[in-house]
Amino acid sequence: MSTIKNISYSYREYESPEELSTEDQELIITAKEASKLAYAPYSRFMVGAAIRLESGRIVHGSNVENAAFPSGICAERTAIAWAVSNYPDDKPVALAIAAMTDEGLTAESVSPCGNCRQVIAEEEVRTGNQIRIILSGKNKIQVLESIAPLLPLQFSMESLRANRP
Ligand code: THU
Repeated sequence: MSTIKNISYSYREYESPEELSTEDQELIITAKEASKLAYAPYSRFMVGAAIRLESGRIVHGSNVENAAFPSGICAERTAIAWAVSNYPDDKPVALAIAAMTDEGLTAESVSPCGNCRQVIAEEEVRTGNQIRIILSGKNKIQVLESIAPLLPLQFSMESLRANRP
C-alpha cells in the first residue's frame, strides 16, 4: 500500500538587507564584495559567497571558471573548501550568496547549484550544526535556517552507513 508523504519547509523573505541582523548584513556585504573577485570570463556571472564561522570570523570565496568548463568551481564550494581547510574546528553558522552580471548585482537572489547544496549538506553533517543560508538579491533576500529545504531527502554519511552490508 502506498502512502503520500509531504515535505514542507518555511523560510523568510525580506525586501531589504536593513531588515536583517547587523551580522547577516555584514555577511551579505562580504558576499557582494567577494562577487567582484570572481574569475568568470566565460559566463560573466560573478558569484560571491561569505561564511560566518562560530568564532565570528568571516571567510569568503568566489567562482573560478576554466576553459575546460567542468573544471570551474562555484563560489560556495570555494568558500567552504577554504573554511574547512583553514579553520576545521570553527563551525560555519551562516552562508550568504550574492551575484553580479555586467549590469551589477542581480535583482533576484541566486540559489546554490545542486553540487553546492550537496557540499553544504556535508558541512552540516560534519559539524553537527545547521547553516543559515542567506540568498541575496536586489529585490529580495531569502533566509533559510538550514540547507534542508534546498536538499530534501538528502544522501549523506548516514545513507552510506545504513546501506552497508
Ligand atoms: N555559480 C556559482 O558560483 N554559484 C551558484 O550558486 C550558481 C552558479 C557559478 C558557476 C559558473 O561559474 C557561473 O556561476 C555560471 O553558472
